[in-house]
Amino acid sequence: MELRINSWEAYQETYRKSVEQPENFWDEIAKTFSWRKPYDKVLEWNFDAPDVKWFLNGKVNITENCLDRHLKQRGNKLALIWEPNDPKEKFVRLTYRELYEKVCQFGNALKAQGIGKGDRVVIYMPMIPELAIAVLACARIGAVHSVVFAGFSANAMSDRINDAQAKMVITADGLNRGAKQVPLKRVVNEALHHCPSVERVIVYDCLGWLPQMEAGRDIWWHDAIEGMGRECPAEEMDSEDLLFILYTSGSTGKPKGVVHTHGGYMVYTAYSFQNVFQYGESDIYWCTADVGWITGHSYIVYGPLLSGATTMMFEGVPTYPDAGRFWQVCDKHGVNQFYTAPTAIRALMAYGEDHVLSYSLDSLKVLGTVGEPINEEAWRWYHIHVGKERCPIVDTWWQTETGGVMIGGLGEHSPMKPAYAGYPLPGIQPVLLDQEGKEISENGVEGYLCIKFPWPSMLRTTYGDHERCRVTYFAHYKNHYFTGDGAKRDENGMYRIIGRVDDVINVSGHRFGTAEIEEAINSDGQVVESAVVGYPHDIKGQGIYAYVVCESLPTDKEVARAEIVEAVVEQIGKIAKPEKIQFVSGLPKTRSGKIMRRILRKVAEGEPDKLGDTSTLLDPGVVDEIVEGAL
Ligand code: WTA
Repeated sequence: MELRINSWEAYQETYRKSVEQPENFWDEIAKTFSWRKPYDKVLEWNFDAPDVKWFLNGKVNITENCLDRHLKQRGNKLALIWEPNDPKEKFVRLTYRELYEKVCQFGNALKAQGIGKGDRVVIYMPMIPELAIAVLACARIGAVHSVVFAGFSANAMSDRINDAQAKMVITADGLNRGAKQVPLKRVVNEALHHCPSVERVIVYDCLGWLPQMEAGRDIWWHDAIEGMGRECPAEEMDSEDLLFILYTSGSTGKPKGVVHTHGGYMVYTAYSFQNVFQYGESDIYWCTADVGWITGHSYIVYGPLLSGATTMMFEGVPTYPDAGRFWQVCDKHGVNQFYTAPTAIRALMAYGEDHVLSYSLDSLKVLGTVGEPINEEAWRWYHIHVGKERCPIVDTWWQTETGGVMIGGLGEHSPMKPAYAGYPLPGIQPVLLDQEGKEISENGVEGYLCIKFPWPSMLRTTYGDHERCRVTYFAHYKNHYFTGDGAKRDENGMYRIIGRVDDVINVSGHRFGTAEIEEAINSDGQVVESAVVGYPHDIKGQGIYAYVVCESLPTDKEVARAEIVEAVVEQIGKIAKPEKIQFVSGLPKTRSGKIMRRILRKVAEGEPDKLGDTSTLLDPGVVDEIVEGAL
């Protein structure tokens, strides 16, 4: 199966075809997969409803394409390499045959525990092979997985479980992260006080702890697989049947469940994986993301396995036991493609070059970044010290909702420009719109980034609330999917993503809605109201700055701050901690009571002289106080 584009000219030609005849284009690619029953139509779509269907009436199971299809030729090829948190511990290698058997065995265990097609299963696991096995086993039997990042709190988890009405949770006793160990089962126990839909919990013994198990509900992983067969026929799924739900934050309300389906997601993640990373048959590919995020779904598990690749999973963190860990792992396993986040690069830059210069990094061919705009300085450091000016950098722009990379390089075959994601992948039709929603067709411009034609791995709905999907993504501009990002297009048509234009803050590549954080802050008893904005942060990209109004100004600000941070940790998790908390007597509001975030953002960004017009405020005096007390 050769889906790779191998020159810049070939890209241009392929791109042209993909826009002129999208259905033919995707049909050719989709045909290379194994379908139980061929689809009878490539695409039906309407962005108003929205209603998008790909490969209609095709019957398929994504795991047959990830596993079974490779057994004959690649049965003994490594599918998964797992590198533990502690370099002194032994790594794990699974061939395609071994992974297939483990997935089948766990699929049988799920069935024996009462899980079937269409049931939702929440997965809250460490970065261990069993996480990938659990994901694939769900897909194999037609259950819908929803992985919750193992840094989220009990509250955040119970919200997700209840929204998905999950029947099962798969977890572990705890996890290793750098020098720390984090309990997981304890968090699950707490979450499940509020989740009546959950009937079973499967617990993997990762640390040898003995967490509290509830009789009749909880079962150990090793007991669940006991006696289970290593063959498990894949459930026949319709192309449009749900594959997974992944929760992500938006500008309003609670996180929403982005829905992806078997057929389209399969075709696009494989196609984009092979092209962006220019994966070659004997390469070893490593993406450092967590499977709790979309990057881990699409480019640790599905895209690589669909392509018959060797994919590596890493349990640890970039700085443990020291800041050379990533590079040591690259040398140890001979990594050829390395995919990470700008925040990790910036964090490692801060430790100096020595850590990276002590490794050869000879095996590297392509470097990738994802999750947030990469600044030029970090780009250059990555290019010079990691890639030795020899490896192309693919800066990949995409979203949970897009399922796969939308704009980005194709290994060495596309032009590079620091801080620019570059050109759209074949089949992707981005446009820039102005304030009025008019397309800006010339180059050298800036606008709202939208997509004007469907692609196979786009979200189908937000789980249980289709109207929310319509309003969030398809109602801003008629006949366009709105990304929530602003972008620039240079004279040559290359795209640079500037950042979110809605109330979403991107902290170390993780998305949070301001409303969600404010709600968490407001859950603290002393707080009357709050407003949260992002501000530029050297390592995290953006940090969280909270303006908080209390019943009376706290006498001990440090104590009050600690309480507010604790409230956020409890409601969402440590990853959403506000960096700065400023106590104020009021928030700048318009006469109609709307908070003027523009002003708060300028103060947080350290530009109080650029507040613009404040005369329409209800109480302009409050602005002076905010500027004076800025942190
Ligand atoms: C941002 C992550 C600039 C963007 C795959 C987007 C980026 C949000 C890039 C999606 C990039 C992602 N350059 N910005 N290469 N990649 N973003 O859903 O704001 O976690 O809307 O998906 O991250 O984040 P999500």
